[in-house]
Amino acid sequence: DWNMQSFVESAVADIRARIGPNRAVCGLSGGVDSAVAAALVAEAIGDRLTCLFVDNGLLRQGEFDEVLTMLRDKMDLNVRGIAAGERFLTALAGVEDPEAKRKVIGRVFVEVFQEEAAKLGQVDFLVQGTLYPDVIESVSVKGPSAVIKTHHNVGGLPETLHLKLIEPLRELFKDEVRAIGRHLGLPPELLNRHPFPGPGLAVRIIGEVTPARVALLQRADAIVTEEVRAAGLYDDIWQVFAVLLPVRSVGVMGDERTYEHVCAIRAVTSEDGMTADWVRLPYDVLHRISRRIIGEVRGINRVTYDISSKPPATIEWE
Ligand code: XMP
Repeated sequence: DWNMQSFVESAVADIRARIGPNRAVCGLSGGVDSAVAAALVAEAIGDRLTCLFVDNGLLRQGEFDEVLTMLRDKMDLNVRGIAAGERFLTALAGVEDPEAKRKVIGRVFVEVFQEEAAKLGQVDFLVQGTLYPDVIESVSVKGPSAVIKTHHNVGGLPETLHLKLIEPLRELFKDEVRAIGRHLGLPPELLNRHPFPGPGLAVRIIGEVTPARVALLQRADAIVTEEVRAAGLYDDIWQVFAVLLPVRSVGVMGDERTYEHVCAIRAVTSEDGMTADWVRLPYDVLHRISRRIIGEVRGINRVTYDISSKPPATIEWE
């Protein structure tokens, strides 16, 4: 029933027919969805697609450079990297509410993207890696009040840029997108990456997002990923990450009293992100994660494990 080759052929043909001799731009997030969407469009129109990869300062440790290299060298995409971290973090100062953070990030993203797109000359189409679950979770049939989180964080782009939307993955689920990516020969290290939210670490820092907190969370998060990979569990898990809590707790280091941040670890399995179960991570993996974070990340002195499933808890804390 699900036939990869025919999906790709017909998607590429549709895209080619719609774009004609014109040009398109695509915002890459570093994730699977936008990369597969871009790969399909690049297959259709080649270098008439320009990809923009914005560093919003909220990516994982080292991610901007790693992903940029992968997109350029392994996927051969026509991509420009834009270092805009300071601009996002400045705009986020003092913002604590989760949806307010998403709005700020969405607005700055649109501004940055618009400025960069303007440098490209005449472009008529915008490529987005929207999936089916994004569509239904953001545009609830029960009306805006039933929207749980505004996942569609680049929703303002087509209007401000006067671009026509190309969303080749709109009817697909994540596993189907990964399969298409494999079929197109995308690098496995990209395809197997865990989903990462558009607003990035901002929705994993509860309360105000500051450069210092981002740096703390990046270090804790890198340890979590490293240990889960080392245990050979990364590919069995939908998402695993650290969350920085706005709570301080008392600890003891040597014979000094400490009063520092608490961080929570979240690991879930899921089919499509709509429901999720917490992962029964082995105690020794949890132990190594906790010991390393507390030992290596100055500013965090306590680690907790999140044992909530979705529903009723969501995957992200915000
Ligand atoms: P929740 O937290 O709603 O997350 O259970 C479901 C999936 O969506 C991701 N997520 C987001 N992705 N922008 C995104 O692009 C967002 O604002 C956003 N919020 C959550 C989350 O990581 C999980 O995979």
